[in-house]
Amino acid sequence: MAADALYKLLRPAVFGLPAERAHDLALTMAERVARSPMLLKAVTARFFEPPDPVLATTVFGLAFDNPVGLAAGLDKNGVAIDFWAALGFGFVEVGTVTPGQGQPGNDKPRMARLVRDRAIVNRMGFNNRGADALAQRLAARKSKVIVGGNIGKAKVTALEHAAGDYERAMLPIWPLVDYIAVNVSSPNTPGLRSLQTVEALRPLLTRILATDRDQAERYGKPSRPILLKLAPDLHDADLEAIAALALELGLAGLIATNTTLDRSGLSTPAPIEGGLSGAPLTARALACTRVLRRVTEGRIPIIGVGGIHTAEHAYQRVRAGASLLQVYTSFVYEGPTLAGTLEKGLASFLRRDGFHSISEAVGVDAARS
Ligand SMILES: Cc1cc2nc3c(=O)[nH]c(=O)nc-3n(C[C@H](O)[C@H](O)[C@H](O)COP(=O)(O)O)c2cc1C
Repeated sequence: MAADALYKLLRPAVFGLPAERAHDLALTMAERVARSPMLLKAVTARFFEPPDPVLATTVFGLAFDNPVGLAAGLDKNGVAIDFWAALGFGFVEVGTVTPGQGQPGNDKPRMARLVRDRAIVNRMGFNNRGADALAQRLAARKSKVIVGGNIGKAKVTALEHAAGDYERAMLPIWPLVDYIAVNVSSPNTPGLRSLQTVEALRPLLTRILATDRDQAERYGKPSRPILLKLAPDLHDADLEAIAALALELGLAGLIATNTTLDRSGLSTPAPIEGGLSGAPLTARALACTRVLRRVTEGRIPIIGVGGIHTAEHAYQRVRAGASLLQVYTSFVYEGPTLAGTLEKGLASFLRRDGFHSISEAVGVDAARS
């Protein structure tokens, strides 16, 4: 039986479990596969599609075989990186991690599926085992897939001390990741999103960039691309101001977007509070990419994330200005064939429209929007 048919058959059983329980089970299986060379080989044989050269792209100095990545939050502790690589993801963003031993996150229930809306709502609150444990997992990985480390602040840390937390979350993982994503956009850590103003971001990012330079000197390695992940609930004017700051400070990239607090258009009421992801986010996340592209004019690459469920969505996001893409919620709904399906579809759209490389298509619609 084809793997996607098998997943569709199993999905009702998986979806019969509470969302976080199903997530934990899936992650335990993924970790087991990642630790077994034999199982990893079997998964690779079943799911991995040889990279299509039209999808190969170099972004912020890193050479990606394909642009479809796994978004932050699914594998917060980096326990199954080799498994995601075997499924064909072009890169994996681990985290969000917080300093030291991490934190338990919010009380359960804190994750729910809205099946009719092809959505998830979560209020996890950065449950994670901490940056030190993540560093160990990163050191143990075998695959060469590109890995980003997403960092955040602990719930108990006062906002005025946030920069110290970002720094302490970054230090242990710095030598082991290819890029760093600064998460100021989760709705589930009280006050975190208030860091998304130019006034708050300027000192925070300046300090993170300086720490990155220090690390580069200390290890004798190139500095890491520093990216900033933004919320879709920012007004366009705020997005514009932050994009201008990113240009001024020399950030390597912007990630648009995190989950939304907006509930408009849902066909079922959300059973818990928190950030909404998946299909209801597609239009707003696309619009955010457009705004950021307009200001940055391609000088800072954008990772497009939020409601990418089909190859059409992926292609549209690239044409709007995204150099790379990430998925979370669609993976939950579509299963392990998702990366391959998106990649094949995207490659065929690019060829159909006469592009020789994905980089030629990035932002071609920007002038029209
Ligand atoms: C259960 C859950 C946990 C998440 N945790 C994080 C996180 O720790 N850090 C982060 O930057 N984004 C986190 N996200 C946001 C995703 O990375 C992504 O930005 C968002 O879900 C939109 O993409 P999607 O529509 O493909 O899911 C989480 C999303 C979900 C559904």
